[in-house]
Amino acid sequence: MAQLWGGRFTKETEQKVYAFNASIRFDKKLFSQDIEGSIAHVIMLAKQGILTGEERDSIIKGLTGIREDVENGRLEITDEYEDIHSFVEANLIDRIGDAGKKLHTGRSRNDQVALDMRLYTRLQVQETDRLLKELLTVILTTMEENLETYMPGFTHLQKAQPITLAHHYGAYFEMFKRDRLRLKDIFYRMNYCPLGAGALAGTTYPLDRNYTASLMGFEGPTLNSMDSVADRDYLIEFLSALSTIMMHLSRFSEEIIIWNSNEYQFVEIDDAYSTGSSIMPQKKNPDIAELVRGKTGRVYGALVSLLTTMKGIPLAYNKDMQEDKEVAFDAMDTVKDCLDLFTGMLRTMKFRRQRMAESAMNGFTNATDAADYLVNKGVPFRDAHGIIGKLVLYCIEKNTSIDALSLEELQAVSDKFDADIYDAVSLKTCVEKRLTIGAPGSDAMKKVIEIEKEYLAQESIS
Ligand code: ARG
Repeated sequence: MAQLWGGRFTKETEQKVYAFNASIRFDKKLFSQDIEGSIAHVIMLAKQGILTGEERDSIIKGLTGIREDVENGRLEITDEYEDIHSFVEANLIDRIGDAGKKLHTGRSRNDQVALDMRLYTRLQVQETDRLLKELLTVILTTMEENLETYMPGFTHLQKAQPITLAHHYGAYFEMFKRDRLRLKDIFYRMNYCPLGAGALAGTTYPLDRNYTASLMGFEGPTLNSMDSVADRDYLIEFLSALSTIMMHLSRFSEEIIIWNSNEYQFVEIDDAYSTGSSIMPQKKNPDIAELVRGKTGRVYGALVSLLTTMKGIPLAYNKDMQEDKEVAFDAMDTVKDCLDLFTGMLRTMKFRRQRMAESAMNGFTNATDAADYLVNKGVPFRDAHGIIGKLVLYCIEKNTSIDALSLEELQAVSDKFDADIYDAVSLKTCVEKRLTIGAPGSDAMKKVIEIEKEYLAQESIS
């Protein structure tokens, strides 16, 4: 047992209590942030005359030595320490002796862990954003290549109107673009430094909090020391953004699973991204999409878990807050893995364009356009709707489609039908005439793609 306290205790901690209380098993993830924060802290302490230049240099040398040794495996972070902060401090004291004992001057583990978690989360926000950008790039490339890949658009999972693959993918582009905007927003709101808040009420040392903040790329120091150590809003916001990303990935996965099914056969998932069955030789399963869909629950779980942990905590720090880590780390890693694998799956997935177009052609996806045709010939829309409804019924009985009917058959229902009906209800016309911005017509889509390209060329969060 290696812990940073004990002076006021007359008994050893019960082993079970120690183990229950310890966090090193998971907070070792904060190792580099702990070193980074400690280095910034001592640089500031020396600038303020609280430590000598010599003490500062020896502490920094000790800390960078620990970092190097851990990075190349010479030093292991073991469970004999209570948490990552104790591990770093104890090793520092071992290495450099008494000067190491001064590292914690004007600092508490409460503001230390608040800082480490923020530094870690800030990095995760950036990494998640980078992965989203890669996904968006793959989506946009597929859009450019599929402006005229026709497919049915659905409502209620029933064929509704024809669209294009570019248009369908474009919907997901918008979702993931909003996800990036959320991350950007979170980044700017969270980018304030809690170090210097002490245990809860600041310190009596003349710390320069602005300076420490600037050393670590923060906008400035946080403005209330109690809130600084008790705030996990940024983490909740990030988990909420991660949950939304997963919701989007899960919806997309669900579609891919449907498109990949024997009934649809719109897509073929690359062999490298599918798995087989141990018993049924014919199977090629969309496991990645299913797993992404399945992992959504645990990311939502992390959000609800932390919201619940935080809801009853009086100011300022309470040990409950240690519970932020395991769920948050798990959610962050899960989302990064999902984004990475999902992007790879999309990049390698093949489309069965002929099959998609055929599917768009049957199922009366041109019924609205047929009604619009009659409207253009002077029939009131409500009547046109009724006439086409009758035609659809007739087609169902004859097992055919509107565009396959003869002109006589059409005219038997309405004398407004002419030879130009066939062009008016062709798949191409149905899509290409939809030219309002945001609609699937390829001329409209091209404009959107230009806007999205400019958007992707913009700088990422920094
Ligand atoms: N392991 C603790 C956490 O994650 C570090 C802060 C400990 N502070 C304290 N007063 N015990 O929250």
